[in-house]
Amino acid sequence: MNKQTVGFIGGGRIARIFLAGWTRAGKMPAHVVVADPNAQALAQLKARYAAVETTTDLAAAAAQDIVFLATHPPALTEAAGAAARALRPAAILVSLAPKFTLAKLSALLGGFSRLARSNPNAASVVGFGMNPIVFAPALDAADRAAVHALLAPLGESPEVAEEKIEAYAVFTAMGPTYLWFQMQALRELAVSFGLAPAEADVALKRMVCGAARTLVDSGLPPAEVMDLVPVKPLAEMEPQVLELYRTRLPALFQKIKP
Ligand SMILES: NC(=O)c1ccc[n+]([C@@H]2O[C@H](COP(=O)([O-])OP(=O)(O)OC[C@H]3O[C@@H](n4cnc5c(N)ncnc54)[C@H](OP(=O)(O)O)[C@@H]3O)[C@@H](O)[C@H]2O)c1
Repeated sequence: MNKQTVGFIGGGRIARIFLAGWTRAGKMPAHVVVADPNAQALAQLKARYAAVETTTDLAAAAAQDIVFLATHPPALTEAAGAAARALRPAAILVSLAPKFTLAKLSALLGGFSRLARSNPNAASVVGFGMNPIVFAPALDAADRAAVHALLAPLGESPEVAEEKIEAYAVFTAMGPTYLWFQMQALRELAVSFGLAPAEADVALKRMVCGAARTLVDSGLPPAEVMDLVPVKPLAEMEPQVLELYRTRLPALFQKIKP
């Protein structure tokens, strides 16, 4: 069990993702405080994680050893202002938001510099998250190890250059939303075609992971990979989907870039 106490400023999806991942891995930190202005959201969280302390007082979450800033960018300035007054000098604040650089966060926090940033991925729920992390220079090896210890049960947390965080936000953080609805449709169809649900689940995981590995690891050019299967029942929708990818995602990337 991690001895460091943990605070979340913002008790929404990403807080729930981390709590679910830690619970599943049997690595729930000893003391977790989640602060959110939404009392209903806190009640739901408390119903699922009885040991977690929930509060509408942001300062209570900000006063922990490792503090995750888990609000959306529009609420972040206000949340950081409230956090600044309560942060302990030895605390580490990890922002999970895009757009707010370490320099900007430090300015919002009155010069506090013990900072890190990540843009995590929802597969952390099952310990397969892709959670890139960047540390501010003020954090030493022990501080970094403490953050890595919290992230390790959630998946991979490679250290990356800060300017890449927004690329990961559009790619790996939002990425599951591009694919999940298609996977679920396939999963349901497989059962309607006669597979048992358990068979469909095993096959889906194998097929999706195998398709990604073939594209990345086979050594074949992408066009050759995509030509390995001659029958493409959905081929006529590809131009539309590619058009959406190539317009929406760069526009979003421009919007969240610092
Ligand atoms: N979900 C993911 O997979 C994911 C992945 C990577 C990064 N992130 C990042 O994580 C951050 C939070 O995203 P999310 O998905 O958890 O969104 P979310 O589900 O909307 O949760 C955000 C929570 O913060 C609360 N909040 C608003 N203002 C606050 C304040 N001043 N102090 C404390 N809490 C406040 C919100 O309350 P109200 O609902 O009442 O406004 C909401 O409960 C974002 O920066 C996002 O980019 C999320």
